[in-house]
Amino acid sequence: MVSAYDVRRVRSCFPALTEGVAHFDGPGGSQVPQQVAEAVARTLTSGIANRGAVTAAERRADEVVLGARRAVADLLGANPAGVVFGRSMTQLTYDLARALAKGWGPGDEVVVSRLDHDANIRPWVDAASAVGATVRWADFDRVTGELPVQAVAEQLSSRTRLVAVTAASNLIGTRPDVPAIAAAVHAAGALLHVDGVHLTPHAPVDVVALGADVYSCSPYKFFGPHHGVLVADPALLETVHPDKLLPSTDAVPERFEAGTLPYELLAGTTATVDFVAGLLPGEGDRRSRVLASMAAVEEHEERLLARLLAGLAATDGVTVHASPARRTPTVLFGVRGREPREVYELLATRGVNAPAGSFYALEASRWLGLGDTGGVRAGLAPYTDDDDVDRLLAGVAAAVA
Ligand SMILES: Cc1ncc(COP(=O)(O)O)c(C=O)c1O
Repeated sequence: MVSAYDVRRVRSCFPALTEGVAHFDGPGGSQVPQQVAEAVARTLTSGIANRGAVTAAERRADEVVLGARRAVADLLGANPAGVVFGRSMTQLTYDLARALAKGWGPGDEVVVSRLDHDANIRPWVDAASAVGATVRWADFDRVTGELPVQAVAEQLSSRTRLVAVTAASNLIGTRPDVPAIAAAVHAAGALLHVDGVHLTPHAPVDVVALGADVYSCSPYKFFGPHHGVLVADPALLETVHPDKLLPSTDAVPERFEAGTLPYELLAGTTATVDFVAGLLPGEGDRRSRVLASMAAVEEHEERLLARLLAGLAATDGVTVHASPARRTPTVLFGVRGREPREVYELLATRGVNAPAGSFYALEASRWLGLGDTGGVRAGLAPYTDDDDVDRLLAGVAAAVA
Protein backbone atom coordinates (compact mmCIF):
# COMPACT_ATOMS: atom_id res chain seq x y z
CA MET A 1 0.00 0.00 0.00
CA VAL A 2 1.55 3.30 -1.11
CA SER A 3 -0.21 6.56 -0.74
CA ALA A 4 1.93 9.58 -0.12
CA TYR A 5 1.34 10.46 -3.77
CA ASP A 6 0.57 14.16 -3.84
CA VAL A 7 -0.98 15.00 -7.20
CA ARG A 8 -1.08 18.72 -6.38
CA ARG A 9 2.68 18.76 -5.88
CA VAL A 10 3.16 16.77 -9.11
CA ARG A 11 0.92 19.17 -11.06
CA SER A 12 2.85 22.19 -9.83
CA CYS A 13 5.92 20.96 -11.75
CA PHE A 14 4.15 21.32 -15.13
CA PRO A 15 4.01 24.89 -16.47
CA ALA A 16 1.53 23.79 -19.16
CA LEU A 17 -1.11 22.87 -16.57
CA THR A 18 -1.44 26.52 -15.56
CA GLU A 19 -3.29 27.02 -18.86
CA GLY A 20 -6.25 25.32 -17.17
CA VAL A 21 -6.84 22.59 -19.75
CA ALA A 22 -7.75 19.07 -18.58
CA HIS A 23 -5.34 16.85 -20.51
CA PHE A 24 -6.59 13.40 -21.47
CA ASP A 25 -4.24 13.36 -24.46
CA GLY A 26 -1.28 11.86 -22.56
CA PRO A 27 -1.23 8.61 -24.60
CA GLY A 28 -0.34 10.80 -27.59
CA GLY A 29 2.33 12.69 -25.66
CA SER A 30 2.53 13.97 -22.10
CA GLN A 31 3.10 17.46 -20.77
CA VAL A 32 6.66 18.31 -19.67
CA PRO A 33 7.91 19.42 -16.25
CA GLN A 34 10.05 22.53 -15.85
CA GLN A 35 13.18 20.63 -14.81
CA VAL A 36 13.16 18.54 -18.00
CA ALA A 37 12.87 21.64 -20.19
CA GLU A 38 15.68 23.27 -18.22
CA ALA A 39 17.97 20.28 -18.70
CA VAL A 40 17.38 20.43 -22.46
CA ALA A 41 18.08 24.18 -22.59
CA ARG A 42 21.16 23.89 -20.35
CA THR A 43 22.68 21.25 -22.60
CA LEU A 44 22.01 23.28 -25.74
CA THR A 45 23.69 26.36 -24.30
CA SER A 46 26.63 24.66 -22.58
CA GLY A 47 29.95 24.07 -24.30
CA ILE A 48 29.40 20.80 -26.13
CA ALA A 49 31.02 19.01 -29.05
CA ASN A 50 30.88 15.52 -30.54
CA ARG A 51 31.59 12.72 -28.07
CA GLY A 52 35.26 12.38 -27.21
CA ALA A 53 37.83 12.51 -24.41
CA VAL A 54 40.14 15.41 -25.29
CA THR A 55 38.20 18.64 -24.65
CA ALA A 56 35.77 19.38 -21.85
CA ALA A 57 33.09 19.90 -24.51
CA GLU A 58 33.68 16.39 -25.90
CA ARG A 59 33.66 14.86 -22.44
CA ARG A 60 30.37 16.64 -21.67
CA ALA A 61 28.72 15.11 -24.75
CA ASP A 62 30.07 11.70 -23.77
CA GLU A 63 28.78 12.01 -20.21
CA VAL A 64 25.35 13.14 -21.46
CA VAL A 65 25.04 9.95 -23.53
CA LEU A 66 26.35 7.62 -20.84
CA GLY A 67 24.23 9.34 -18.19
CA ALA A 68 21.11 8.89 -20.31
CA ARG A 69 21.90 5.19 -20.80
CA ARG A 70 22.21 4.78 -17.02
CA ALA A 71 18.94 6.67 -16.47
CA VAL A 72 16.98 4.55 -18.95
CA ALA A 73 18.51 1.42 -17.43
CA ASP A 74 17.22 2.54 -14.03
CA LEU A 75 13.79 3.23 -15.47
CA LEU A 76 13.41 -0.17 -17.12
CA GLY A 77 15.65 -2.52 -15.13
CA ALA A 78 17.95 -2.83 -18.14
CA ASN A 79 21.70 -3.00 -18.78
CA PRO A 80 23.03 0.49 -19.71
CA ALA A 81 25.26 -1.16 -22.33
CA GLY A 82 22.11 -2.37 -24.12
CA VAL A 83 20.32 1.01 -24.28
CA VAL A 84 19.97 2.37 -27.83
CA PHE A 85 18.68 5.85 -28.68
CA GLY A 86 16.93 6.84 -31.88
CA ARG A 87 14.60 9.30 -33.52
CA SER A 88 11.43 7.50 -32.39
CA MET A 89 10.19 4.04 -31.45
CA THR A 90 8.91 3.71 -35.02
CA GLN A 91 12.32 4.42 -36.54
CA LEU A 92 14.11 2.10 -34.11
CA THR A 93 11.67 -0.72 -34.84
CA TYR A 94 11.97 -0.30 -38.62
CA ASP A 95 15.78 -0.32 -38.37
CA LEU A 96 15.82 -3.38 -36.12
CA ALA A 97 13.30 -5.24 -38.30
CA ARG A 98 15.38 -4.61 -41.43
CA ALA A 99 18.56 -5.70 -39.67
CA LEU A 100 17.04 -8.89 -38.23
CA ALA A 101 15.37 -9.76 -41.54
CA LYS A 102 18.82 -10.10 -43.15
CA GLY A 103 18.86 -13.47 -41.40
CA TRP A 104 15.32 -14.53 -42.44
CA GLY A 105 14.07 -16.11 -45.62
CA PRO A 106 11.13 -17.98 -47.16
CA GLY A 107 9.64 -20.43 -44.66
CA ASP A 108 10.56 -18.28 -41.67
CA GLU A 109 7.68 -16.76 -39.75
CA VAL A 110 7.01 -13.66 -37.64
CA VAL A 111 3.98 -13.21 -35.41
CA VAL A 112 2.32 -9.83 -34.90
CA SER A 113 -0.74 -8.97 -32.84
CA ARG A 114 -3.87 -7.16 -33.94
CA LEU A 115 -3.88 -5.33 -30.61
CA ASP A 116 -0.71 -3.41 -31.42
CA HIS A 117 0.06 0.11 -32.58
CA ASP A 118 1.10 -0.05 -36.22
CA ALA A 119 4.68 0.76 -35.20
CA ASN A 120 4.96 -2.77 -33.81
CA ILE A 121 3.21 -4.35 -36.79
CA ARG A 122 4.17 -2.74 -40.10
CA PRO A 123 7.97 -2.77 -39.62
CA TRP A 124 7.76 -6.56 -39.11
CA VAL A 125 5.25 -7.09 -41.93
CA ASP A 126 7.38 -5.02 -44.34
CA ALA A 127 10.65 -6.68 -43.28
CA ALA A 128 9.13 -10.16 -43.59
CA SER A 129 7.65 -9.41 -46.97
CA ALA A 130 10.99 -8.06 -48.28
CA VAL A 131 12.66 -11.44 -47.66
CA GLY A 132 9.70 -13.73 -48.44
CA ALA A 133 9.01 -14.68 -44.79
CA THR A 134 5.46 -15.37 -43.57
CA VAL A 135 3.44 -13.15 -41.21
CA ARG A 136 1.02 -14.75 -38.76
CA TRP A 137 -1.56 -12.79 -36.79
CA ALA A 138 -2.58 -13.16 -33.14
CA ASP A 139 -6.13 -11.87 -32.65
CA PHE A 140 -7.60 -10.39 -29.49
CA ASP A 141 -11.10 -10.84 -28.08
CA ARG A 142 -13.34 -8.19 -29.59
CA VAL A 143 -15.62 -7.98 -26.54
CA THR A 144 -13.17 -8.03 -23.64
CA GLY A 145 -10.22 -6.53 -25.51
CA GLU A 146 -8.00 -9.25 -24.02
CA LEU A 147 -5.11 -10.84 -25.92
CA PRO A 148 -4.97 -14.35 -24.43
CA VAL A 149 -1.56 -16.03 -24.25
CA GLN A 150 -3.08 -18.86 -26.27
CA ALA A 151 -3.86 -16.49 -29.15
CA VAL A 152 -0.13 -15.90 -29.53
CA ALA A 153 0.97 -19.44 -28.62
CA GLU A 154 -1.19 -21.01 -31.34
CA GLN A 155 0.60 -18.97 -34.00
CA LEU A 156 4.04 -20.26 -32.98
CA SER A 157 5.93 -22.96 -34.86
CA SER A 158 9.47 -24.22 -35.16
CA ARG A 159 9.90 -21.62 -37.95
CA THR A 160 8.92 -18.61 -35.82
CA ARG A 161 11.82 -16.18 -35.67
CA LEU A 162 10.23 -13.26 -33.85
CA VAL A 163 7.03 -12.29 -32.06
CA ALA A 164 6.05 -8.63 -31.71
CA VAL A 165 3.54 -7.77 -29.02
CA THR A 166 2.56 -4.74 -27.02
CA ALA A 167 2.91 -4.47 -23.25
CA ALA A 168 -0.19 -2.25 -23.28
CA SER A 169 -2.63 -1.13 -25.96
CA ASN A 170 -2.57 2.62 -26.61
CA LEU A 171 -6.16 2.30 -27.91
CA ILE A 172 -8.02 0.37 -25.20
CA GLY A 173 -5.44 -0.10 -22.45
CA THR A 174 -5.18 -3.92 -22.51
CA ARG A 175 -2.10 -5.24 -20.72
CA PRO A 176 -1.40 -8.73 -22.08
CA ASP A 177 0.37 -11.28 -19.87
CA VAL A 178 3.80 -10.57 -21.38
CA PRO A 179 5.84 -12.94 -19.14
CA ALA A 180 3.59 -15.88 -20.11
CA ILE A 181 3.78 -14.88 -23.78
CA ALA A 182 7.57 -14.65 -23.44
CA ALA A 183 7.76 -18.17 -21.99
CA ALA A 184 5.80 -19.56 -24.97
CA VAL A 185 7.86 -17.57 -27.48
CA HIS A 186 11.17 -18.67 -25.96
CA ALA A 187 10.02 -22.30 -25.81
CA ALA A 188 9.53 -22.03 -29.59
CA GLY A 189 13.07 -20.65 -29.94
CA ALA A 190 11.96 -17.21 -31.12
CA LEU A 191 12.69 -13.64 -30.02
CA LEU A 192 10.14 -11.39 -28.33
CA HIS A 193 9.95 -7.71 -29.28
CA VAL A 194 7.81 -5.79 -26.78
CA ASP A 195 6.33 -2.36 -27.53
CA GLY A 196 6.54 -0.63 -24.16
CA VAL A 197 5.56 2.84 -25.40
CA HIS A 198 2.16 2.84 -23.71
CA LEU A 199 3.04 0.77 -20.62
CA THR A 200 6.10 2.73 -19.50
CA PRO A 201 4.17 5.89 -18.44
CA HIS A 202 1.76 3.87 -16.28
CA ALA A 203 3.55 1.09 -14.39
CA PRO A 204 6.85 -0.03 -12.91
CA VAL A 205 8.75 -1.83 -15.68
CA ASP A 206 11.27 -4.65 -15.37
CA VAL A 207 12.30 -5.82 -18.82
CA VAL A 208 13.93 -8.97 -17.44
CA ALA A 209 10.81 -9.99 -15.50
CA LEU A 210 8.72 -9.29 -18.62
CA GLY A 211 10.92 -11.67 -20.62
CA ALA A 212 11.34 -9.10 -23.40
CA ASP A 213 14.35 -9.71 -25.63
CA VAL A 214 13.87 -6.19 -26.95
CA TYR A 215 11.73 -3.49 -25.32
CA SER A 216 11.12 -0.08 -26.79
CA CYS A 217 9.56 3.11 -25.49
CA SER A 218 9.37 6.85 -26.12
CA PRO A 219 10.29 9.40 -23.43
CA TYR A 220 7.82 11.97 -24.78
CA LYS A 221 5.02 9.73 -23.49
CA PHE A 222 6.35 9.99 -19.93
CA PHE A 223 7.23 13.69 -19.49
CA GLY A 224 10.39 13.65 -21.61
CA PRO A 225 11.65 14.86 -24.97
CA HIS A 226 10.74 13.54 -28.39
CA HIS A 227 12.98 10.60 -29.19
CA GLY A 228 12.88 6.80 -28.96
CA VAL A 229 14.61 4.19 -26.82
CA LEU A 230 15.26 0.51 -27.39
CA VAL A 231 16.77 -1.80 -24.78
CA ALA A 232 18.10 -5.32 -25.15
CA ASP A 233 20.78 -7.60 -23.78
CA PRO A 234 24.05 -6.30 -25.30
CA ALA A 235 24.95 -9.91 -26.14
CA LEU A 236 21.85 -10.08 -28.36
CA LEU A 237 22.68 -6.72 -29.97
CA GLU A 238 26.17 -8.05 -30.80
CA THR A 239 24.53 -10.63 -33.09
CA VAL A 240 22.60 -8.02 -35.12
CA HIS A 241 24.23 -6.00 -37.89
CA PRO A 242 22.34 -2.90 -39.08
CA ASP A 243 23.60 -0.95 -42.08
CA LYS A 244 26.20 1.56 -40.94
CA LEU A 245 28.65 4.11 -42.27
CA LEU A 246 32.23 2.91 -42.79
CA PRO A 247 33.88 5.32 -40.32
CA SER A 248 31.24 4.93 -37.60
CA THR A 249 31.95 2.56 -34.75
CA ASP A 250 30.75 -1.04 -34.81
CA ALA A 251 30.58 -1.11 -31.01
CA VAL A 252 27.31 -1.95 -29.26
CA PRO A 253 25.08 -0.03 -28.64
CA GLU A 254 26.48 2.77 -30.87
CA ARG A 255 26.28 0.43 -33.87
CA PHE A 256 22.50 1.03 -33.86
CA GLU A 257 22.65 4.82 -33.49
CA ALA A 258 23.12 6.19 -36.98
CA GLY A 259 24.56 9.70 -37.05
CA THR A 260 24.98 12.15 -34.18
CA LEU A 261 22.75 11.70 -31.15
CA PRO A 262 20.49 14.56 -29.93
CA TYR A 263 22.51 15.32 -26.77
CA GLU A 264 20.07 17.92 -25.47
CA LEU A 265 17.17 15.47 -25.70
CA LEU A 266 19.18 12.76 -23.96
CA ALA A 267 19.97 15.18 -21.12
CA GLY A 268 16.24 15.85 -20.96
CA THR A 269 15.57 12.13 -20.69
CA THR A 270 17.97 11.80 -17.76
CA ALA A 271 16.11 14.67 -16.07
CA THR A 272 12.84 12.88 -16.89
CA VAL A 273 13.92 9.68 -15.13
CA ASP A 274 15.08 11.75 -12.15
CA PHE A 275 11.68 13.43 -12.15
CA VAL A 276 9.87 10.07 -12.28
CA ALA A 277 12.04 8.80 -9.42
CA GLY A 278 10.90 11.82 -7.39
CA LEU A 279 7.16 11.52 -8.05
CA LEU A 280 6.90 9.89 -4.65
CA PRO A 281 9.30 11.43 -2.13
CA GLY A 282 11.56 8.69 -0.80
CA GLU A 283 15.02 7.36 -0.11
CA GLY A 284 17.22 4.86 -1.88
CA ASP A 285 18.90 4.53 -5.23
CA ARG A 286 17.21 5.84 -8.38
CA ARG A 287 15.97 2.42 -9.53
CA SER A 288 14.17 1.72 -6.25
CA ARG A 289 12.69 5.24 -6.19
CA VAL A 290 11.46 4.78 -9.78
CA LEU A 291 9.76 1.52 -8.80
CA ALA A 292 8.11 3.07 -5.72
CA SER A 293 7.02 6.15 -7.67
CA MET A 294 5.53 4.16 -10.52
CA ALA A 295 3.69 1.88 -8.07
CA ALA A 296 2.19 5.04 -6.56
CA VAL A 297 1.29 6.34 -10.03
CA GLU A 298 -0.42 3.05 -10.78
CA GLU A 299 -2.47 3.28 -7.61
CA HIS A 300 -3.38 6.94 -8.26
CA GLU A 301 -4.43 6.19 -11.83
CA GLU A 302 -6.41 3.08 -10.87
CA ARG A 303 -8.48 5.10 -8.44
CA LEU A 304 -9.20 7.77 -11.06
CA LEU A 305 -9.89 5.13 -13.71
CA ALA A 306 -12.57 3.59 -11.47
CA ARG A 307 -14.14 7.05 -11.10
CA LEU A 308 -14.02 7.63 -14.86
CA LEU A 309 -15.44 4.20 -15.77
CA ALA A 310 -18.22 4.50 -13.19
CA GLY A 311 -19.11 7.95 -14.50
CA LEU A 312 -19.15 6.81 -18.14
CA ALA A 313 -21.24 3.74 -17.24
CA ALA A 314 -23.76 5.99 -15.50
CA THR A 315 -24.09 8.27 -18.53
CA ASP A 316 -26.89 7.12 -20.80
CA GLY A 317 -25.78 7.00 -24.43
CA VAL A 318 -22.09 6.29 -23.80
CA THR A 319 -20.47 3.06 -24.99
CA VAL A 320 -17.06 2.05 -23.68
CA HIS A 321 -15.24 -0.11 -26.23
CA ALA A 322 -13.72 -3.24 -24.60
CA SER A 323 -13.17 -3.79 -20.91
CA PRO A 324 -9.90 -5.63 -20.35
CA ALA A 325 -9.36 -6.84 -16.77
CA ARG A 326 -5.72 -5.77 -16.59
CA ARG A 327 -5.29 -2.41 -18.19
CA THR A 328 -3.76 1.03 -18.28
CA PRO A 329 -6.08 3.97 -17.52
CA THR A 330 -6.80 4.53 -21.22
CA VAL A 331 -10.44 4.38 -22.23
CA LEU A 332 -11.96 4.39 -25.72
CA PHE A 333 -15.62 5.30 -25.96
CA GLY A 334 -18.40 6.48 -28.24
CA VAL A 335 -21.34 8.80 -27.65
CA ARG A 336 -24.82 8.14 -29.05
CA GLY A 337 -25.72 10.36 -31.99
CA ARG A 338 -22.23 11.84 -32.35
CA GLU A 339 -19.21 11.11 -34.48
CA PRO A 340 -16.11 10.69 -32.27
CA ARG A 341 -14.62 13.79 -33.86
CA GLU A 342 -17.66 15.88 -32.86
CA VAL A 343 -17.27 14.77 -29.24
CA TYR A 344 -13.57 15.62 -29.37
CA GLU A 345 -14.42 19.10 -30.69
CA LEU A 346 -17.21 19.68 -28.15
CA LEU A 347 -14.92 18.66 -25.30
CA ALA A 348 -12.19 20.95 -26.63
CA THR A 349 -14.57 23.94 -26.38
CA ARG A 350 -14.80 23.16 -22.64
CA GLY A 351 -11.03 22.99 -22.17
CA VAL A 352 -11.00 19.18 -22.09
CA ASN A 353 -8.52 17.55 -24.46
CA ALA A 354 -9.62 14.02 -25.33
CA PRO A 355 -8.89 13.34 -29.00
CA ALA A 356 -10.70 10.97 -31.37
CA GLY A 357 -9.29 8.47 -33.81
CA SER A 358 -7.67 5.07 -34.11
CA PHE A 359 -4.34 6.45 -32.88
CA TYR A 360 -2.36 4.31 -35.32
CA ALA A 361 -3.74 1.16 -33.67
CA LEU A 362 -5.49 0.74 -36.97
CA GLU A 363 -5.72 -3.06 -36.94
CA ALA A 364 -7.20 -2.97 -33.43
CA SER A 365 -9.73 -0.29 -34.35
CA ARG A 366 -10.87 -2.27 -37.42
CA TRP A 367 -10.98 -5.52 -35.42
CA LEU A 368 -13.24 -3.80 -32.87
CA GLY A 369 -15.60 -2.84 -35.69
CA LEU A 370 -14.72 0.85 -35.40
CA GLY A 371 -13.10 1.03 -38.83
CA ASP A 372 -10.56 3.77 -39.42
CA THR A 373 -12.64 6.24 -37.38
CA GLY A 374 -12.00 4.71 -33.96
CA GLY A 375 -13.46 6.43 -30.94
CA VAL A 376 -12.86 9.13 -28.35
CA ARG A 377 -9.84 8.33 -26.19
CA ALA A 378 -9.46 9.50 -22.61
CA GLY A 379 -6.03 8.74 -21.22
CA LEU A 380 -5.22 9.45 -17.59
CA ALA A 381 -1.73 10.60 -16.65
CA PRO A 382 0.15 10.95 -13.37
CA TYR A 383 -0.88 14.63 -13.29
CA THR A 384 -4.62 13.92 -13.81
CA ASP A 385 -6.80 14.76 -10.80
CA ASP A 386 -10.41 14.28 -9.71
CA ASP A 387 -11.41 17.67 -11.07
CA ASP A 388 -10.12 16.75 -14.54
CA VAL A 389 -12.18 13.55 -14.50
CA ASP A 390 -15.31 15.38 -13.40
CA ARG A 391 -14.85 17.97 -16.14
CA LEU A 392 -14.52 15.20 -18.71
CA LEU A 393 -17.64 13.43 -17.44
CA ALA A 394 -19.66 16.65 -17.48
CA GLY A 395 -18.50 17.34 -21.04
CA VAL A 396 -19.39 13.85 -22.22
CA ALA A 397 -22.84 14.05 -20.61
CA ALA A 398 -23.40 17.37 -22.38
CA ALA A 399 -22.35 15.83 -25.70
CA VAL A 400 -24.96 13.04 -25.65
CA ALA A 401 -27.41 13.96 -28.38
C1 LIG B 1 1.80 1.93 -28.19
C2 LIG B 1 2.62 2.78 -29.10
N1 LIG B 1 3.62 2.23 -29.78
C3 LIG B 1 4.40 2.93 -30.60
C4 LIG B 1 4.19 4.29 -30.79
C5 LIG B 1 5.10 5.03 -31.72
O1 LIG B 1 6.03 5.75 -30.98
P1 LIG B 1 6.98 6.84 -31.68
O2 LIG B 1 6.16 8.07 -31.87
O3 LIG B 1 8.11 7.03 -30.72
O4 LIG B 1 7.42 6.26 -32.96
C6 LIG B 1 3.15 4.91 -30.12
C7 LIG B 1 2.87 6.35 -30.33
O5 LIG B 1 1.77 6.80 -30.16
C8 LIG B 1 2.35 4.14 -29.24
O6 LIG B 1 1.33 4.70 -28.54
